[in-house]
Amino acid sequence: MVRDSTKSIHGHGELDRYGSVIPPIYVSAIYRFLNDEHATKSDREFVIKYAREENPTLRALERVIAGLEETEDSLAFASGMAAISTAVIKYAKPGTKVVVPIEVYSTTLQLLEELSRKLGFKLVKTWPSAKDIVEAVDRETSMVLFEVMTNPTLKVIDLKYVSESLPSDNAVLMVDNTFTTPVLVKPARFGAELVIHSLTKYMAGHNDVVGGAVAGSQDVIKELWDWRRMLGTLQQPFEAYLTLRGIKTLEVRFERESKSAQAIAEYLLEHSRIEEVMYPGLSTDPYHGIASRLFSRKLYGAVVSFKIKGSKDEVIRFLKKLKIIKPSPSLGGTESLISIASAAAAKYIPEEDRIKLGITDNLLRLSVGLEDTDDLIEDLGQALAQP
Ligand SMILES: Cc1ncc(COP(=O)(O)O)c(C=O)c1O
Repeated sequence: MVRDSTKSIHGHGELDRYGSVIPPIYVSAIYRFLNDEHATKSDREFVIKYAREENPTLRALERVIAGLEETEDSLAFASGMAAISTAVIKYAKPGTKVVVPIEVYSTTLQLLEELSRKLGFKLVKTWPSAKDIVEAVDRETSMVLFEVMTNPTLKVIDLKYVSESLPSDNAVLMVDNTFTTPVLVKPARFGAELVIHSLTKYMAGHNDVVGGAVAGSQDVIKELWDWRRMLGTLQQPFEAYLTLRGIKTLEVRFERESKSAQAIAEYLLEHSRIEEVMYPGLSTDPYHGIASRLFSRKLYGAVVSFKIKGSKDEVIRFLKKLKIIKPSPSLGGTESLISIASAAAAKYIPEEDRIKLGITDNLLRLSVGLEDTDDLIEDLGQALAQP
């Protein structure tokens, strides 16, 4: 079996009868009713006929994602939230419990709160640790959803422990692998039934496309395919093409960005204006041990969260002084981006939980891009220097 960087490039398989090497962008919204003749044998058993249901460019991307996540198949969605909402609508059952940590991407949390009221399930929120998640699950639980590395304080959840200790088979395990990517961890190996991605981040990797994915077994994907079809949440072909193009360099980008992040975290840790650095690559970080055991590479991701000493005004002054790093939401792309966590990723986490999690107004989340590491450190240094 070939290795991951080869799969990212060739994992789409044969594309068309012309032998094109690069995936074509199929813009047709409709396909003639034929027999089975243009669905390849490895395709899902339906025939492509309407672009809200299926598209050949998406199929190419979905095969690559499934290859990297080591699942039987995957589905591409219009955004990470389209993937999450479609999966939650399908798998969260009325009258049951859904378990989620108090720290996940806060729009995911907001969606779960809203859907719990609309669909009639009980949302059980726990501390973001494997032990607390396991303790919250019982036979009434239909779904467990968490991020391997939480957004924005970078707590690492011991996925192996969760999957080995879940007290009930009734619960579908849905794991968001956006921050860690298949380069660090493949949740399906640990029993996750659904592996979620915001493709907008590392998978596409260039801050120029929005997308999402769910990877899983053929049975799960078949069930979810119907919900994607009904909800109309699939990704569009040009976005799928851009994602396919970006995913080819996932491993090299992620490796380089993670190494830069490590250097930046070490630099910030020593800086007199920094109150705290959260980064599992630091040997002093409380999640270093779990991350080192769980991750298949000695890399710890390319997001660094840190607190600047001082008021929110001082934080804003710091952001204004940055020359290379852009104050902007999102992460995982070639451009380094920075945001105030409480105003962006953690905006919809209730204030009392934000306080417990240490998400104060001076907490910044830096997504390290592909610029030169020393240039990024110099940029941070000049912006941190007292006026
Ligand atoms: C961990 C995580 N999951 C899901 C999402 C949602 O993805 P999207 O913005 O592509 O809808 C985000 C967005 O920031 C995220 O950080």
